[in-house]
Amino acid sequence: MKFNKKLYIKTWGCQMNVYDSSRMADILAPLGYMTVEEPDDADMIILNTCHIREKATDKVFSEIGRLKIHKDKKVEAGGSMLMAVAGCVAQAEGDFIMKRAPTVDMIFGPQTYHELPEMVAKATGAYGENRIVNTEFPEKTKFDFLPEEQNQGASAFLSIQEGCDKFCTFCVVPYTRGAEYSRPVDKIVDEAKRLVDNGSKEITLLGQNVNAYHGENVDGKTWGLGRLIEAVAEIDGIEQIRYTTSHPRDVDQELIDAHRDVQKLMPFLHLPVQSGSDKMLKVMNRKHTADRYREIIADLKKARPDLVFSSDFIVGFPGETDQDHEDTMQLIRDVKFASAYSFKYSARPGTPAANMTNLVREDVKTVRLTQIQELIGEFQAEFNADTVGKTLPILFERKGKKEGQLQGRSPFYQAINVPANERLIGQIVDVHVTDSTGHALTGEVVTAVSTSENLTENIVKSA
Ligand code: 5AD
Ligand code: SF4
Repeated sequence: MKFNKKLYIKTWGCQMNVYDSSRMADILAPLGYMTVEEPDDADMIILNTCHIREKATDKVFSEIGRLKIHKDKKVEAGGSMLMAVAGCVAQAEGDFIMKRAPTVDMIFGPQTYHELPEMVAKATGAYGENRIVNTEFPEKTKFDFLPEEQNQGASAFLSIQEGCDKFCTFCVVPYTRGAEYSRPVDKIVDEAKRLVDNGSKEITLLGQNVNAYHGENVDGKTWGLGRLIEAVAEIDGIEQIRYTTSHPRDVDQELIDAHRDVQKLMPFLHLPVQSGSDKMLKVMNRKHTADRYREIIADLKKARPDLVFSSDFIVGFPGETDQDHEDTMQLIRDVKFASAYSFKYSARPGTPAANMTNLVREDVKTVRLTQIQELIGEFQAEFNADTVGKTLPILFERKGKKEGQLQGRSPFYQAINVPANERLIGQIVDVHVTDSTGHALTGEVVTAVSTSENLTENIVKSA
């Protein structure tokens, strides 16, 4: 492949967007675009945006303003730069962006980026006379058109499902990503094999509602996520499997069994609950109770006793009382999450909750958010401290911030920094955990006992 153009992609939001960005780079590579780390001299800039929480559109406009300076400079010097806004803000606010930001040449949503080569061909010129808005939901899925993916490194994302039909009242995803769609089993297995051939050891199966997966197998039967995980685990070279993001309602027995039977399935599960109050869960349209969530956690833990959980919480949803908040705090105490994200509720235009009037005051939200974050932080610190003294297999993903250190993840998805030779990047290595700072761990590579020939070889090399 001959690279003669520079492509700068900035990605906001979820792993799905990270995956989409890497696929956009794959599509543009045959056109000569090579990804670069800085926007200054780029021939094309893509802002892959997220619309899930507040100020999403403002952030995009301020980024466009910043990048316009680069574009103007390049154009003044006789060059050109295509500017594109992609992702969920593009999907939701495409026409508005077109109107307000003349510097933007292309706007496309998450379901049309496979048409990038045609869009690029149309939108040539410094201030593209042929500006494009492409926010359809095409009949045929983009997956039928995407080229083979390039190297993603030690830990790779694989999109298996997209869109959502759940319509939680606060959420824009069903509107920006569209209806639920599951990729066929053979396409996923092929992609997983190629990722392994390219050196990936861990695969994270991705979907907005990943455990709603119901893909077709070659024999015409429909498979759920549990079966799919078993099939992916049989691929030689895949050492670790994760999946995200799941919904409590779609945790079925097959998936629970997969946690029991598939050792490659990592003992960490992100299972968003949003609230611990039945009243809030109902108005959020989550369609389960807090006790049902507790039961699911108990069933999963029975299947895989070392399994730990993380979650998402929304604080200050319309109508949330002190008691509702306390119910959420109690759920956190009961489950003892290993980590979790919590967000202040923000009304998203076009969602049912945006019309609710019994709003919670901003200062009340702030107090509740702090309380939740402190409680979660305590459990996270406790869990991390419990890991100190243990030896865990760590997948080294990249160089650490400090010289001579590598950064990796434990099976429980804890970030860990370890002094180690760069050659160990991409390897799973036994590490003795020596310390914990609330959020991250530190450790030392275990050199005396090694579990595989590969490991021994690498340690000898790195010594
Ligand atoms: N306000 C606040 N948080 C939200 N999330 C989704 N929509 C909103 C919103 N309108 C959070 C949920 C979800 C996570 C990805 O983002 O907790 O699980
Ligand atoms: Fe949004 Fe709910 Fe669908 Fe998750 S399940 S993507 S929160 S609508």
